[in-house]
Amino acid sequence: METPPRAGEAPSALKRKVLVKSYGCQMNVYDATRMTDLLGREGYAETKSEEDADLVILNTCHIREKAADKIYSELGKLAIAKRALNAQGRDMKIVVAGCVAQAEGEEVLKRQRAVDLVVGPQSYHRLPELLRQARDGARLADTEFAVEDKFRTLPAPNRAQIRARGVSAFVTVQEGCDKFCSFCVVPYTRGAEASRPVAEIIAETMRLVDAGVREITLIGQNVNAYLGPDGDGGEASLAQLLDRLARIEGLARLRYTTSHPVDMAQELIDAHRAIPKLMPYVHLPVQSGSDRILKAMNRKHGADAYLSIVESLRKARSDIAMSSDFIVGFPGESDADFEATMALARTVGFASSFSFKYSPRPGTPAADRDDQIDETVKSERLAALQALLEEQRQAFNAATVGREFDVLFEKAGRHAGQIAGKSPYMQPVHVEGPMERVGREARVKIIAAGSNSLGGRLMSEEAKA
Ligand code: SAH
Ligand code: SF4
Ligand code: F3S
Repeated sequence: METPPRAGEAPSALKRKVLVKSYGCQMNVYDATRMTDLLGREGYAETKSEEDADLVILNTCHIREKAADKIYSELGKLAIAKRALNAQGRDMKIVVAGCVAQAEGEEVLKRQRAVDLVVGPQSYHRLPELLRQARDGARLADTEFAVEDKFRTLPAPNRAQIRARGVSAFVTVQEGCDKFCSFCVVPYTRGAEASRPVAEIIAETMRLVDAGVREITLIGQNVNAYLGPDGDGGEASLAQLLDRLARIEGLARLRYTTSHPVDMAQELIDAHRAIPKLMPYVHLPVQSGSDRILKAMNRKHGADAYLSIVESLRKARSDIAMSSDFIVGFPGESDADFEATMALARTVGFASSFSFKYSPRPGTPAADRDDQIDETVKSERLAALQALLEEQRQAFNAATVGREFDVLFEKAGRHAGQIAGKSPYMQPVHVEGPMERVGREARVKIIAAGSNSLGGRLMSEEAKA
């Protein structure tokens, strides 16, 4: 146990501890690791417990009303913890980062007095300086869309940090969104689309692989719109980037998320045939199966276009499975529109999906429409859609019994002598096997399907690299 600093005494840098709590999408998970790495260089150790923390960063999500509300209730609890610490002569700084920070800025400081600092997703590289000002007693909000490239200024993690995080890692390749779907806050909270240079992504991936990472998921709000600088004035598409990354020795698996249907280029579809390391699992949000609603959502494609992408993907690689996002109860959605969504889901047959009730978000065009759908209707539609999607998920799990595929082992299993990993379709898989297999892929035959995981048998003693 370290002794807490006395009142009035600045804690020595090495004694400080930071807790980052992330909400929302994978982009926030990735950003959290980068913030932790940056603060590590400033002398902050990572902690999982609030009581221990000198600094708590809430890495927030603004996508739906519930997500944003949760932050204020969390802040209420933190304010109480902070007061208790203050009574003991200790201090805790509270930082609000992420998309609520970007969307609400100084409002957050007004609504919750205990917050010291509000920092938007494009300003994380300025955290050390902002924290110094906060320690001097300032309460500030920095939500500028920075001119400098935040990725260049954020430090790389070291081997020990990477190892502690496991065999699977995210790498942000693209951030921001220019699509402006009429329901969505992301273009406002993450700014315009920007792609990282190819060389930077390759270097980061090689460092991760060198430290034991075997699976990389490339992330972006519109990852398939990736168009990154590649050498002398050239540009690389996502398919080209995947091809380059697939050549990295020791890397076993590649994934990418989240894609938009209109950016699903044939070249990317073909990459699923050409690149064995690219997992046969594609997350492609459709939101609705009704052309009328898709148009009102400003999705820029119809239901048929979505279905034909799915068909092309399955043609490129027959074992491809799909997952998606759906919104029910978008303004003006009729029973017939909703039925079209159900029909699309039945046609595709999804392996897994996320579905949400439409939530009006401040500043988005759909929120101002006067044909909002009744909450009870939204709930009924969501229940019906979720029942169908759950049925499809179970059917997909059951259909894997008897199949053989590579499982990437991540950790010890639930029972002694078991190890656990992920299938190409992200399903947890448990087998009897030695811990030496953890961190590697091995061929597994699936012998049982539960509702949330699969049971299998290791096929051979020859583990893959
Ligand atoms: N960039 C991705 C999705 C980002 S947000 C894409 O283009 O699909 C993740 C999901 O949250 C969306 O796919 C959508 O299904 C859901 N979502 C976004 N805004 C929402 C809102 N206002 N109400 C309900 N769900 C929403
Ligand atoms: Fe939001 Fe649409 Fe952009 Fe996705 S594509 S982040 S749903 S605006
Ligand atoms: Fe949420 Fe922001 Fe991600 S609003 S979904 S954390 S981009």
